[in-house]
Amino acid sequence: MNALINDIEIIKAKTTKINDVDFDNLTFGKILTDHMLECDFKDGKWQAPKVVPYQPITLDPSAKIFHYGQSVFEGMKAYKDANDTVWLFRPLDNFKRLNISSKRLAIPELPEDYFMNGLKALLKVDSDWIPRNEGSSLYIRPFVFASGKGFHASPADEYKFIIACAPSGSYFSGKVKVLIEEKYSRSANGGVGFAKAGGNYAGQFYPTQLAIEKGYQQVIWTDDNTHEYIEEAGAMNIFIRINDTLITGPTSDRILDGITRKSIIELAQSKGIPVEVRKITVSEVVEAAKNGSLKEMFGAGTAAVVSPISGFGYKNEDYDIPEMEDTYASFLKKHITDIQTNKSEDPFGWRYKVE
Ligand SMILES: Cc1ncc(COP(=O)(O)O)c(C=O)c1O
Repeated sequence: MNALINDIEIIKAKTTKINDVDFDNLTFGKILTDHMLECDFKDGKWQAPKVVPYQPITLDPSAKIFHYGQSVFEGMKAYKDANDTVWLFRPLDNFKRLNISSKRLAIPELPEDYFMNGLKALLKVDSDWIPRNEGSSLYIRPFVFASGKGFHASPADEYKFIIACAPSGSYFSGKVKVLIEEKYSRSANGGVGFAKAGGNYAGQFYPTQLAIEKGYQQVIWTDDNTHEYIEEAGAMNIFIRINDTLITGPTSDRILDGITRKSIIELAQSKGIPVEVRKITVSEVVEAAKNGSLKEMFGAGTAAVVSPISGFGYKNEDYDIPEMEDTYASFLKKHITDIQTNKSEDPFGWRYKVE
């Protein structure tokens, strides 16, 4: 009989890869831990999840993931504090969003205890992999995809839910220059933009490559209809500071309801920063850049927490955002990471102890 943690069966790896890992020089998401959580949907229900050795999976070439892209995922992080206590950040929000994404892709939703108990069991088994170094964390990737067979364009009858983890260093790669998109769209009304569906990201790669060829690092997505409204920054939500007001667009069919975004809104409001959640036009931002009232732009997401933007291109013109001290970006990033890593009080109840 294998061991059980939180009712989850554990099949331990025979060897560990951990001794080959340089925890002082971690990149992002490239090294995977010794174990993963695996759970199959078959015969009309989710079967009991198990922690198993991290290993390749075998799929039938007709599996519907390959043909119809039925796949959704999440991104979250675990942190270890100075006392070796392990913390997650708003994990139930990731669980709920995974099911929101699944529903939209006609994938069966997961029970909460399979997700939460499975995740906690995996983190216990791979606890030594959770970095303690400043800025590092264990990046967690839960995902669900259609493993069921057949070329008929309809939802699969079998699925796999996996959680895999990668110890990761700081995502910060300096300030980025972005291109405001005038042609391509990542999402549309009635579409799947609000879901973390794999295909959304595949669709972003080509326009992003074009932007990189032009000397930018990221694309600012605009609405598919008019390209006049600013929506997201690459795979992050976007915040724009005009004078002292922090502005972000409202969530919709087209925008992912980011957990960092909603945490930033709440945190900023609690610190007395004026926040507006409203549609924001490209012309308003161009005008603000011209008259000097555009103080900051930054992306917000789990990987980087905040990712400051140094300037943007639009209609063959480049606009710089002058450097300033005491940015909202660094203030908000510090407060959020201090809460995440148990370095400060958590008045919002966002931190979640893994025990
Ligand atoms: C398209 C998109 N927008 C926004 C976000 C930010 O969401 P969160 O803060 O929950 O990571 C992500 C990343 O998860 C994303 O993929």
